[in-house]
Amino acid sequence: MRVTRRSRFFDHLRKENRITSAKDGCSGQGVCGACTVEINGSAKLACRTKIKSLEGAEIVTTEGLPERFREVISRSFAHKGAVQCGFCSPGMIMRAKALHNVNPAPSRDEIIKAIKPNLCRCTGYVKIVDAIASAFEELNNDQKVLQKSLAVAGVRNEREVLPKAPSFDGLKSVPTTDASSRLAGVRCSAAVGEPYPKYMAAETALGARDFVDDMRIEGMVHGALRFSDHPRARVVSIDVSEALKSPGVLRIFTAADIPGEHKTGLIVRDWPLMIAEGGITNCLGDVLAGVVAETEAMARVAAQMIKIDCRVLEAVTDMHEAARPGAIEVHSGRSNVLETCSIRSGDADSVFARAAWLSTGIYETQRIEHAFLETETAIAMPEDDGIRLYSQGQGVYVDRKAVSEILGLPAEKVRVIQVQNGGGFGGKEDITVQGHASLFAWHLKRPVKVHLNRDESITMHPKRHPVWMEISLACDRNGKFTALRLNALGDTGAYASVGTKVMERVVGHATGAYSVPVVDIKAVTVYTNNIPSGAMRGFGVPQVTFAVESCIDELCRMGGFDRWQIRYDNSLEDGKRTATGQLLRGVGLKKTLLAVKDAFSMAKFAGLACGIKNTGVGNGMTDDSEVSVEIVSDKKIIVSHGWSEMGQGIHTMAIQVLHHETGIDPAIIEVKVDTGADLPTGMTTSSRATALLGNAIIDASARIREDLAQGSLRQLAGRVYRGRYVCDWTCKPGEKTDDPAIHFAYGYATQVAILNDEGAVRKIIAAHDAGKIMNRMLFEGQIEGAVHMGMGYALTEDLPMENGRPVSLKFNDLGILRADDMPEIEVIGIEEKDPVGPYGAKGIGEIGMVSTAAAIANALCAYDGIRRTKLPLRRRDKS
Ligand code: FES
Repeated sequence: MRVTRRSRFFDHLRKENRITSAKDGCSGQGVCGACTVEINGSAKLACRTKIKSLEGAEIVTTEGLPERFREVISRSFAHKGAVQCGFCSPGMIMRAKALHNVNPAPSRDEIIKAIKPNLCRCTGYVKIVDAIASAFEELNNDQKVLQKSLAVAGVRNEREVLPKAPSFDGLKSVPTTDASSRLAGVRCSAAVGEPYPKYMAAETALGARDFVDDMRIEGMVHGALRFSDHPRARVVSIDVSEALKSPGVLRIFTAADIPGEHKTGLIVRDWPLMIAEGGITNCLGDVLAGVVAETEAMARVAAQMIKIDCRVLEAVTDMHEAARPGAIEVHSGRSNVLETCSIRSGDADSVFARAAWLSTGIYETQRIEHAFLETETAIAMPEDDGIRLYSQGQGVYVDRKAVSEILGLPAEKVRVIQVQNGGGFGGKEDITVQGHASLFAWHLKRPVKVHLNRDESITMHPKRHPVWMEISLACDRNGKFTALRLNALGDTGAYASVGTKVMERVVGHATGAYSVPVVDIKAVTVYTNNIPSGAMRGFGVPQVTFAVESCIDELCRMGGFDRWQIRYDNSLEDGKRTATGQLLRGVGLKKTLLAVKDAFSMAKFAGLACGIKNTGVGNGMTDDSEVSVEIVSDKKIIVSHGWSEMGQGIHTMAIQVLHHETGIDPAIIEVKVDTGADLPTGMTTSSRATALLGNAIIDASARIREDLAQGSLRQLAGRVYRGRYVCDWTCKPGEKTDDPAIHFAYGYATQVAILNDEGAVRKIIAAHDAGKIMNRMLFEGQIEGAVHMGMGYALTEDLPMENGRPVSLKFNDLGILRADDMPEIEVIGIEEKDPVGPYGAKGIGEIGMVSTAAAIANALCAYDGIRRTKLPLRRRDKS
């Protein structure tokens, strides 16, 4: 491509040329690398490149890569597991291309250095580096073959000796009737447990598969939101008169335009779509109005022209202050204390009085941002007498319910189609722009896209809860834990989101992965005028694990106990009960401890921490899943379900299970998530999708197998098989019952952080009991990505707020670790079968980061003797 006209370069690519492989991850801040392109042979950020510098320049995106490079690198990304959500992948590939131009045989360190400018929030970079190294090796072999052949007399045309390139759609075109496929010499079995490449990974790697912001629909216009200027203020008036005159503006919407419910909420209906005149804002992320215009830029200009007359009110932003009687009420007439969850067993005071050793401390964890690379975007459009919504949210049926309530429509009049999601990690559970896009499209009767830039994304969606914890852990003279007390306070911000559930997990996981006979545990969830807190990977458990694991090392220091042995001696195992009284089965914790024992004991400076994490929401709520399998023909099967694919690989798992159960060729299976299939499903959360969907597919497969025994796939064409799995037997912590089951399953882990002589993290060993490893490559990728997030949580990530405002909205200030910040990660898989999960599988999405921060804190203490009680630890480590 040659640029010869004057325009903004990033817009030129995406909007004028419709080249969408270059992604918008940081809205022009120049820090994420998702828009990397090649300009005159070097890697450049499209968002930071001035158009006037490009006159006559040669520019290459993934669409224009040399055919052989494009084929090899995309296949390598797919087969090495480098693609999770895939939002960063095209930028990474372009970064690799620029490296290949100058150094076709780089060392691993040189690859890491080359991709440093590009962020990935999913993979921990390990498999991206693997994929680039593997692709370069294959390309170099091409060259060797070429040179060898050219040396042979008589060869005149290089093309005659180049290896024949496999077809680009390789994964889908290879017969796999024996449950395996071969592509260019790479074996890829789809059997459960095998490293089958992620669904549509090669296309995703190249940016050839649309995210919502890449989609264009005929007649589509654009919305922009006007956010509050103050965390707490009474809105006196909203004057849109000047904004309406701004070029391209079609209409401006306020709360008065909402035909149905004004508030939504996953647990508590407290979150207004827009604040009306006369209302009070509760946080900076509140929306006061929405502009729809011909272009996004026009809508944004007009949104800033809306004049808001408001009376600024005193806000309550300290969670301790908010919890006090008489505090300013965030929601008028309602206590700021949203919930108090507690469990008690025995008399903790008397046990503490007799304890041989007692560790007591106050531990605090910080608010952090999910930092998914794809910010929130939705497109809504009229469909019949209802609405069609393209969403990247974490639950299409939850989106459908919220939108139907906002519009005052029956649920069946709202159809939600899930578009691949560029990272969620819990931050896309609450609806953000889906409701606004739907409202605007409903009124205008035309397609409307609403896209948040990075500042707006940080301001609007819920964060990880900051938690304050006062904790005491006692043991006897042999190091046996005897009692634990915890008082915890969690800041859920302006809206409930799933804050109560997060703090219930703090309670339920307060004793960590250990058996503690006497407990006195309480967690309070409070409203403040801060940006809301909600779901984030680990869901309260990384917070409390940091506290309890620190206490354990302190007991070791006091009593002279061995840090590994005390954990082994107290660890949960089959037949033991959690702090909530749940009897456990299928516990692989001791195996994870044994797996790291030697490495831990031999390391000069190391920290150790165990983890337990629930699979499934439980707590008295139903966990269920439905699925339908449509036999379209002997060449096409459609699996429909309701879980969001956000990088974790749920579509791939669905294909592998169906193939495993029925023998159906995985290459002919398509996966769809569309509420039109009417398969009501909850939120994709709590590491539960694999267990629930896997069991539902096994249920459907039994009937498919029976029919296949009678006739061929061709003869079954037109049939639809439905499967279902329901878990409705859990209860809330503290509920009076003889045999409480708070969750249907748990996962277990032990992680070790090893430091070098300078006190920097040199290696993380992550031993995880996954029950059954459904796909070894995706399993490793999940753990490596979680360790990356856990390391950031431990060391650098933070989103501090002052008076209800983020101190910084710069993406770079969030502290996300880059490729050269990462140490070696060794993942060890343990398979201790769970009684409920398919083939014994347990959730792995969240537990990967549960113990990382605690292990690093303990390692640092082992290094310098300083007990750190606050995250982040603020050591920018370099190995
Ligand atoms: Fe890199 Fe998701 S795969 S950001």
